[in-house]
Amino acid sequence: MVANAEKSTQKQHPSGDKRFKALDITMKRNQYRQDALIEILHKAQEAFGYLEEDVLLYIARGLKLPLSRVYGVATFYHLFSLKPSGAHSCVVCLGTACYVKGSGEVLAALEKKACIHQGETTPDGQMSLMTARCIGACGIAPAVVFDGEVAGKVSAEQALERIEKWLMANG
Ligand code: FES
Repeated sequence: MVANAEKSTQKQHPSGDKRFKALDITMKRNQYRQDALIEILHKAQEAFGYLEEDVLLYIARGLKLPLSRVYGVATFYHLFSLKPSGAHSCVVCLGTACYVKGSGEVLAALEKKACIHQGETTPDGQMSLMTARCIGACGIAPAVVFDGEVAGKVSAEQALERIEKWLMANG
């Protein structure tokens, strides 16, 4: 039923991962309509198990949407999972609105506490720490997404409290 798909891979993902081909088919079927974003994210999550930045970028390019918009939608809906390798995930928004409200300090505190840098996972696999440019929650800046749940007006202290139990889970 996907006989024509072979011919339609004009922008095949360099990894050669066949799941991107499935994503191409879904986007094509939806005529690359931007309002099909949620449906496409659904398909992507089905295919990948979770949504990683590479996948979000691929979708953003396909639908000609800014990555921040795709990221915002993917992090806002709890049905989508951005979970990378850690058992728990923490995404600190470094977009302008959040940054001016102190998200840089929140990130620094988290990095210090977990002894990792943004984009890394603790050696015990308990927590992955990531950053985003804008998750679409500027009104409650600074925003941090803990295990897919958006928290607003997060202080460094509150953020440390949230991750403390994760880091102690196997200690
Ligand atoms: S800048 Fe952080 S939510 Fe928009």
